[in-house]
Amino acid sequence: MRQPPRRISPPRSLRGTVIVPGDKSISHRAAILNAVAAGPATIENFLPADDCLATLDCLRALGVSWSLERGGDESSRLSLTGRGLGGLRESAEVLDARNSGTTMRLLAGLLAGRPFRSIITGDESLRSRPMGRVILPLREMGADIRGREGDSLAPLTIQGGPLRGIHHRSPVASAQVKSALLLAGLQAQGETTLEEPARSRDHTERMLRAMGADLSEEGNALRLSPLKQDLAPLNLRVPGDFSGAAFWLVAGALHPDAEIVLPGVGVNPTRTGLLDALQEMGADIAVSGEREVGGEPVADLRVRSSKLKGIVIEGLAVVRLIDEVPALAVAAALARGRTVIRDVGELRVKESDRILATVQELRRLGARAEEHPNGLVIEGVEALRGAPCDSRGDHRLAMALAVAGTVARGGTALSGAEAASVSYPGFWQHLNELGSG
Ligand code: S3P
Repeated sequence: MRQPPRRISPPRSLRGTVIVPGDKSISHRAAILNAVAAGPATIENFLPADDCLATLDCLRALGVSWSLERGGDESSRLSLTGRGLGGLRESAEVLDARNSGTTMRLLAGLLAGRPFRSIITGDESLRSRPMGRVILPLREMGADIRGREGDSLAPLTIQGGPLRGIHHRSPVASAQVKSALLLAGLQAQGETTLEEPARSRDHTERMLRAMGADLSEEGNALRLSPLKQDLAPLNLRVPGDFSGAAFWLVAGALHPDAEIVLPGVGVNPTRTGLLDALQEMGADIAVSGEREVGGEPVADLRVRSSKLKGIVIEGLAVVRLIDEVPALAVAAALARGRTVIRDVGELRVKESDRILATVQELRRLGARAEEHPNGLVIEGVEALRGAPCDSRGDHRLAMALAVAGTVARGGTALSGAEAASVSYPGFWQHLNELGSG
């Protein structure tokens, strides 16, 4: 339900420590892979956000039992009992991925090989996002999978059955496509090899290896052998979500009186493009205590008030910051000079058209931003000014606009602020705490 706009006033300082919630991508994968592993697993710091809850609800409908214990603040522990691939059952209801592309695409790959019928739908945004990118290669593997509008859109109907391994060269660098095909490949006859134009996030690969899958890398390609036995369950602790931390990195760099400490954030190099971009812009960000948690690199981050300058981001580098472009655009709006972000056409098919939405909404706050077919150009201004703006139901837009409002002059009224809960349920509380720190 649409709530009244949230008022954001710039706080005098932004200071304190924020424990960002568990990583969204890793939480989805930990649930899905353990759901088909041979035995129980416990996942600490599972992200209890709308997207991951959609995955859990779909898994329950498929016969997987789990329980989620929610501690104080954002912490939660997921206990889940995998009964092997053969433990999944036909769902009596339509599976609802809600706003979550990861849920829909990964489950499509998994269910393509299960011997029953599944129907997966989603909310209005997800039903308009491209599904041909998973439907077509899954069909090539022998799957009986269909979608609306010439097999390009959800709802998807899947009659699971035997699959064969393929060689697939994806035209887009997409971890969701890659993961869908890996999940199908586990169940196929023969090897599956995958190539993508740039390395997308590799959480699925890391987790599959840790659970005993035979997955190797050859140059740019991944090679997966079908499972000989079910995956071994994997207990893990989910690192803090870099994509959540991203908003505090930008807020801390832009606010004139800020110091924000972010302990335990995932710094998988396939995800940290924004960190590199902000540092190149001149942000004062320190990375310390690098370690490994749950098979993923983790570190403590600290950001302080900084003076930023514009940069150019393009080419393969954009894959490492694709979800962070709305946050980066806010940083660019107040950086000295021009920031050019090219080769991000993928943003048009995210939870909203993020090129259009970012440009239009930031302009309402006084930014000088221009839309291009595959990117955006932003000329830094001296100050943003608070104004009414709208997340358009997109969680990353909501949080980016909140950061913009926090460093703008005057008050901002943000419609659709509640969308933040799709990936960061405690976002508003954390913002309030930092602002009164
Ligand atoms: C995700 C992959 C990315 C990312 C999304 C989460 C994942 O999407 O934008 O927020 O968890 O695999 P694509 O794989 O479509 O690029």
